[in-house]
Amino acid sequence: MDLMEAIKGRRSIRKYKPDPVSEETLQTLMEAVRWAPSWANTQCSEVIVVKDPKIKSELATALPNTNPALSSMTEAPLIIVLCGKKGISGFKKGQAATIRVDWLMFDTGLAMQNLCLVAHALGLGTVVVGMFDHRKAEEILGLPQNVEVVAITPLGYRATEGGTTKRKELSEFVFHDKYLGNK
Ligand SMILES: Cc1cc2nc3c(=O)[nH]c(=O)nc-3n(C[C@H](O)[C@H](O)[C@H](O)COP(=O)(O)O)c2cc1C
Repeated sequence: MDLMEAIKGRRSIRKYKPDPVSEETLQTLMEAVRWAPSWANTQCSEVIVVKDPKIKSELATALPNTNPALSSMTEAPLIIVLCGKKGISGFKKGQAATIRVDWLMFDTGLAMQNLCLVAHALGLGTVVVGMFDHRKAEEILGLPQNVEVVAITPLGYRATEGGTTKRKELSEFVFHDKYLGNK
């Protein structure tokens, strides 16, 4: 699949078939995470692949009932939890190199996007889930203090196509030479 086709064709998927995802496919997806760019190649991203139905159900309890991705947490055969090691990305000799301090959110975001695009190209669905009780998820997964959960995605074969979504026009967010957003 052409990259632009994958970028434009990927949609959030919230309904999954129970069909398993092969180890080979999973490996390919982990390679996509592995090759994501990161601050000074610090590679703070870490992944937990959850297959155990009990842990999937526990993780689902970290989502509010209003989260539209809730049912997909137990429906999809796999849950991928994207974590970041703190104090690495954006740091030089233990000191923050920029006012943005920890670039963990950025690096894990790049890793997640790689995963979502390759999953889509392989015929799989994902939905980035960020609205949940992160502390609760970290407890369930047994994370140490220096690692945090950033986002989760169910992973599996699509039971439905994604919905239609709109995007802003380029003229609404692309500026030339100087910022012209606040008119
Ligand atoms: C950081 C982030 C957090 C998100 N959190 C949730 C979530 O908690 N629940 C959910 O159903 N979708 C979530 N989404 C999916 C967005 O709603 C979705 O990407 C957006 O509406 C655009 O639709 P599309 O992905 O189909 O293009 C999240 C997406 C991102 C990037």
